[in-house]
Amino acid sequence: MKALIVCVSVSHGNTRRIAEAMGEVLEATVVEPEQVDVNQLGSYDVVGFGSGIFHQRFHPRLRAFVRNLPKERRGKAFVYVTSGFPPQIWPMTRLVTRAGFEVADTFAVRAFDTWAPLRLVGGINKGRPDATDVDAARAFAAGLRARVTAGA
Ligand SMILES: Cc1cc2nc3c(=O)[nH]c(=O)nc-3n(C[C@H](O)[C@H](O)[C@H](O)COP(=O)(O)O)c2cc1C
Repeated sequence: MKALIVCVSVSHGNTRRIAEAMGEVLEATVVEPEQVDVNQLGSYDVVGFGSGIFHQRFHPRLRAFVRNLPKERRGKAFVYVTSGFPPQIWPMTRLVTRAGFEVADTFAVRAFDTWAPLRLVGGINKGRPDATDVDAARAFAAGLRARVTAGA
């Protein structure tokens, strides 16, 4: 399986932790958008796109990267996210679809959030993603891998 995981993780490394766990299962390299060789994107069996949520949106660097991809028919993709509160995933799913990918699945996990007002109470979801979250990310990746390999 040839897989790539694109990740923007700027706050606590929450999204990176989840991406690395998925990457082990998918045998994928985890890279920042700026490190992606766009010409190679079509050669992967599956490509993941993820970040934290900032002011209710995926990180601007990830959004800009996906939005600016040349539109062409591509392979399978997945979208993943870490956030303090339940996130809206569909805006990123839509961008990834518009770039020509087929979004096979999405994965979301609650994570440590110290956004300004929450800092007053020491943040929320302290310690997350924790071992259970990392296990869930691995299980997600294993299921995805099985489906992509089976061509489903
Ligand atoms: C400036 C800022 C704004 C944030 N806005 C939101 C938000 O609107 N909704 C939410 O659920 N989480 C929000 N968060 C929490 C992050 O999405 C969460 O901590 C995420 O796991 C960060 O991922 P990272 O450590 O990989 O960068 C915000 C965090 C920061 C620092």
